[in-house]
Amino acid sequence: MAISVSKTEYLKGTIKIQGSKNTVLPIIAASIITNGISVIYNCPDISDVHVMCELLKILNIKTCYEDHVLTIDTTKACYAPLPYDMTCRLRSSVLMLGAMLAKWGRGELGMPGGCTIGMRPIDIHLEGFCKMGVDVDVAGNMLCCKSFYLTGCDFRLRYPSVGATENLLLAACGAKGRTILRGVAKEPEIIELCNYLQSLGILIEGVGTDVLVIKGTGYLNCADYVNVFDRIVAGTYLLIACAIPSNIILSGIDDIHYIKNILQVCAKLGLNVIRSEHNLHIQSCGRVNAGAFATGIYPKFPTDLLPVLIAVLLKGSGDSSVTETVFENRFSVVDELKKLNGKLFVAGNTVYIERTDNLTGNIVNATDLRQGAAMVTAGLMSGGNTIINDVSYIERGYENIVEDLRKVGAEITYI
Ligand code: EPZ
Repeated sequence: MAISVSKTEYLKGTIKIQGSKNTVLPIIAASIITNGISVIYNCPDISDVHVMCELLKILNIKTCYEDHVLTIDTTKACYAPLPYDMTCRLRSSVLMLGAMLAKWGRGELGMPGGCTIGMRPIDIHLEGFCKMGVDVDVAGNMLCCKSFYLTGCDFRLRYPSVGATENLLLAACGAKGRTILRGVAKEPEIIELCNYLQSLGILIEGVGTDVLVIKGTGYLNCADYVNVFDRIVAGTYLLIACAIPSNIILSGIDDIHYIKNILQVCAKLGLNVIRSEHNLHIQSCGRVNAGAFATGIYPKFPTDLLPVLIAVLLKGSGDSSVTETVFENRFSVVDELKKLNGKLFVAGNTVYIERTDNLTGNIVNATDLRQGAAMVTAGLMSGGNTIINDVSYIERGYENIVEDLRKVGAEITYI
């Protein structure tokens, strides 16, 4: 399947923001350590969620997904290795390891996959597990981890990796004694995971800071979880509204703090946003201020929105630049944007973007999730028609980007 998108003059209406992908995936992994039935509300209907459920099935954990409600029954959970052909389908499969170690003291699973946006090693995850007394063995594309006695430790992460923080938090829940994790990530996804683990009965201090102290416990409750909105999806639509004249409302924004960094960049780009309780009302004339931007660790501007920001800056009032500081290889968007007549080049970890008035449609490829969203954005800005192939990448994280945008007047459809 492909997406066909054409130049769009005006967006008007309301978009309900879906539940967060990167929040719900670790919480699905965390469910492994519970014993009973739990329900996750506002769970997005995206392929990554369904692959996580298939992985749970291998552990004899039943799931039922209906109308954005995911029910997970762990009462008959039993240990099993997770094969590479399943784990390689997404990055978050690696979070099953922390939860399996907490529950069974062992985990054998294939290496994780995920978007190809850099090397994406897991050395920090494994270093932390070793500190907890886990024997780690890598055989081909399989990881074999065993711990006779999972023990709390004092560990400093050499980089505030989101995934490593989540994985070590999960393992710490089953470790004997106290675990101190220093230099952790502080992203909203970590805060939500901590809140969920606390609702299971785990004691965690320092939530939202860069030191977390976790006290593992032998007995765990089950707890339901109401997922938060997806800050990257909201950010995608905010950035699109910078470039396309709009009068739109984004609804379902339950915690505005989670997108403060994105709103700051949008304000710099010239976007006018009025906040009301759970809504953002956006009015834009589609003029984009040029500037120099950079991604960074939260609360800086998220790397996940870098490709969309680059696309939007093609319409800037002058030349712009964006510097990527998190991943080494997040510029695949550049070659595809060139196919639309975009004038931009990469030097080191910065992309330089020339203002362009004559973007024209072409046939392009989605090469990863956020790059795919950037190509949709560029298609809305380009004259003629743009065809985006390989939309399965986009569907990993955007529940229905085509319908969301079509409903507010975008010229976009599946073909
Ligand atoms: C999470 O990936 C997100 N994925 C990514 O979103 C997001 O871009 C990223 O965090 C940063 O915010 C999920 O939550 C599923 P990291 P993660 O570990 O956990 C290096 C999207 O589009 N590193 O914080 O994999 C790594 O190479 C996805 O939704 C190590 O060196 O990110 C990278 O340069 C894409 N060793 C940096 O840290 C390690 O052991 C950040 O990676 C781990 C990471």
